[in-house]
Amino acid sequence: MGRSSKDKRDIYYRLAKEEGWRARSAFKLLQLDHEFNLFTGVNRAVDLCAAPGSWSQVLSRKLRFIFFFMHIVAVDLQAMAPLPGVTQIQGDITKVTTAQEIIRHFEGQPADLVVCDGAPDVTGLHDVDEYIQAQLLLAALNITTHVLKSGGTFVAKIFRGKDVTLLYSQLKIFFSSVTCAKPRSSRNSSIEAFVVCQNYSPPEGYVPNMSNPLLDHSYDVDFNQLEGPNRVIVPFLACGDLSAFDSDRTYPLQLDADKQYQYTPPTQPPICPPYQEACKLRKNNLLSREDTPSVCPTQSQDEPEPPVEKNTKRKRTMSSVAVERFNF
Ligand SMILES: C[S@@+](CC[C@H](N)C(=O)[O-])C[C@H]1O[C@@H](n2cnc3c(N)ncnc32)[C@H](O)[C@@H]1O
Repeated sequence: MGRSSKDKRDIYYRLAKEEGWRARSAFKLLQLDHEFNLFTGVNRAVDLCAAPGSWSQVLSRKLRFIFFFMHIVAVDLQAMAPLPGVTQIQGDITKVTTAQEIIRHFEGQPADLVVCDGAPDVTGLHDVDEYIQAQLLLAALNITTHVLKSGGTFVAKIFRGKDVTLLYSQLKIFFSSVTCAKPRSSRNSSIEAFVVCQNYSPPEGYVPNMSNPLLDHSYDVDFNQLEGPNRVIVPFLACGDLSAFDSDRTYPLQLDADKQYQYTPPTQPPICPPYQEACKLRKNNLLSREDTPSVCPTQSQDEPEPPVEKNTKRKRTMSSVAVERFNF
């Protein structure tokens, strides 16, 4: 497989490199902003689950046009290469200490905007993945209640799984407006979407508390069957006009008749990624080979299944798949 084949298959991956974004996800935030005007009046912003940092790049570039002194705090479990105007915290968004650290960086001032593109490592078991993603979203919401100003905005990745209505209900408790949005750069084949929650207005007397699980672990109600005022239906909006590139299409390498295609290397490879060890083993031909199940256990919801290389059909190891998956 040539190194330009991913450029052909994934137009946003290619554009991200050409425009200097660290990941194709940058376009998702740009398209959401285009629809919702997220950055107007934003001086303090938090990027939860930020690595490798393309959303922080968008915040840094956009907010600098609005305020000369803007404050951006980026949090991730993984280390991230530095970015201008962005303070990094290597930490877990489920921990109260992380919330405290964010507040410390803002010198006690609340944030205007919190964004979260968090995703756990996907197992391939859809119910489990949806559940873990929901928990990560609720952890992001919980930390947001500690740091967001009244009237502020929260944007987060959501998987539109079967219990998504429960999540909408929980978000509606804290925000007067909740919209589910699908940017054009997010593939139709993926259940990924984004909730845009505006006008933070927690219930009277609500005290943020990280030890409060927001999701009841023993719930077994079918929330989609609820009726009347108990049934929360949020508007769904496709973002990015029809002239935007279609993320599910393959485009020719020569997009522009008078601009010759040239391969561009990734903008900023991740620092110390968890798959580094696997890369080293593969380079030295030390990866063991085994049959994998038909559904790859490490397949991301957001990425197409990597094509199978010649002569290695059904013989790839989990690690080798992970190497391709994280190839930003
Ligand atoms: C899809 S990536 C984010 C991409 C990023 N928005 C960008 O544009 O470059 C998801 C990130 O979520 C992070 N993550 C997952 N669980 C987390 C947690 N509990 N605390 C902090 N970060 C977490 C992962 O380390 C990973 O870097």
